Amino acid sequence: MSFYPQKINERFQNPRNGGKPENPNAVGAGASFVCGSFVRFYLRINPETKEISEAGYKTNGCGFAIAAAEILAESIVGEKLTGLHGLDTEALRAEIERKLGQFANERTQCAEICFDALHRAFSDYRARQIEEFAGEKALICTCFSVSEETIETAIDRNQIETVEEVAKVCRAGGGCGSCRFLIQEMIDIYRSERF
Ligand code: FES
Repeated sequence: MSFYPQKINERFQNPRNGGKPENPNAVGAGASFVCGSFVRFYLRINPETKEISEAGYKTNGCGFAIAAAEILAESIVGEKLTGLHGLDTEALRAEIERKLGQFANERTQCAEICFDALHRAFSDYRARQIEEFAGEKALICTCFSVSEETIETAIDRNQIETVEEVAKVCRAGGGCGSCRFLIQEMIDIYRSERF
């Protein structure tokens, strides 16, 4: 008799992705102030192909957090940054629920810290890419190599109001999603100056 629901227990008992892969080039953490648990994601991303070749995690969390981290690691390995469609939290939640069932309200934070950790790992990767970038124009979206100037032009020419529209026009924001808050800021500034 297990303390956890069956699907959670299966993942908890047989974790396949726990630990830190060799030479990760993206790291992000999430933590809960409610129960004190944390999750840290480690990714290895091929800078040329933009493929996520390895994903691992460390956590002091419960079986729910471990099961959620397992599903997330599994679902992104082999994917390309350019194929993540903005890495929407709702899509991640749907994937977890599809494989593990719905988490009870008091357990949703166990999955939330995993989402935070994963998003931060991609932000970390983006920051590292920007640091290495030697081009002349300010880069905003490293997944699709889209400059600030290109996004500004797209917003202005198309009278864009949402990040989704920017992604449709020039692809920026349609990968790992870590540049989306910057694109939103650009839209907000443009609209506040214009109206
Ligand atoms: S940096 Fe990944 S979607 Fe823009």
